Amino acid sequence: MTARHFLLDTDLTSAEQAAVLDLADGYKARRRAPGPADRPLAGRSVALLFEKPSTRTRLSFDVGVAELGGHPVVIDAASTQLGRGETIEDTAAVLSRYVDAIVVRTFAQERLERLAAAANVPVINALSDHAHPCQALADLQTIRERRGGLAGLTLTYLGDGNNVAHSLLLAGALAGMRVHVASPPGYEPFEQVVRHANEIGAATGGEALVMHDALEAAAGADVLYTDVWASMGQEGESDSRSLVFQPYQLDEKAVEAAKPDVLVLHCLPAHRELEISGSVLDGPHSAVFDQAENRLHAQKALLSLLFAAEAGVAEAGTGGTGAGGADAAR
Ligand code: CP
Ligand code: NVA
Repeated sequence: MTARHFLLDTDLTSAEQAAVLDLADGYKARRRAPGPADRPLAGRSVALLFEKPSTRTRLSFDVGVAELGGHPVVIDAASTQLGRGETIEDTAAVLSRYVDAIVVRTFAQERLERLAAAANVPVINALSDHAHPCQALADLQTIRERRGGLAGLTLTYLGDGNNVAHSLLLAGALAGMRVHVASPPGYEPFEQVVRHANEIGAATGGEALVMHDALEAAAGADVLYTDVWASMGQEGESDSRSLVFQPYQLDEKAVEAAKPDVLVLHCLPAHRELEISGSVLDGPHSAVFDQAENRLHAQKALLSLLFAAEAGVAEAGTGGTGAGGADAAR
């Protein structure tokens, strides 16, 4: 059987994404009193391979795999033979002989795809330059638990049209949300991602829109979201980006333009007084630490779904699509 991967948000159908969020809520509610069915990874090992730094993703996968009954193996890529030139394909083939899934944080999406093509076990994107789909699952879980639903809500993302923005556009579209991204000219999300989100939105009621005026984009928003202006690998551009992105700061003015009960999210790590003002990050609208916690629950739910697909078991609510069932949504 071909392994079921999660490289991009659209590797789940809308129904599967909703089922993952339901499962995530269940894991959250039962965390301190798990039942026997809450350990679907018993006897399994999961490699967590990092080619970039991480706090939340690394810790939440490590703890999450253990809570599911599995054995997490955290690997800093630089300390492996990858750092000395062994190919990603040979690494994937070897890891597939030892572990039951591979969670990878890397640079190019293409590197992730090559790894998945050479692996015989599920591969999960723990952030690439292109997308951060595990983050988006936790983001949706956080919005849903605060607002009771997702369809029809407007999420405005201010700042860089980066990996986090791409995943919000796609996952938001799968959930029937309106995702508005306000970026400086030249820093918009990829057009191909925006088009894909609108294609999905045609069926779900979602909508993807790119704008350039931050306050216009923030007007009436249910959720305001931002991320760092210089992502990992772009440290050399930090100073120039700080100037270009200044008008896109998630500050009190943006909060005032949004709905009175607007929810403020940030994937973290945050830089106070750069992409977000300290008063907003630490203020009453902010749910950033619930959001960070939900990484744990959402990823446990994702792992359960992928392992259920591996075992050929139809998860409740997934429509029984099984391995490769997300193809219809691509
Ligand atoms: N949000 C997020 O992915 O954080 P880390 O880089 O700490 O994993
Ligand atoms: N866009 C950021 C997200 C960090 C979680 C980066 O790629 O560095």
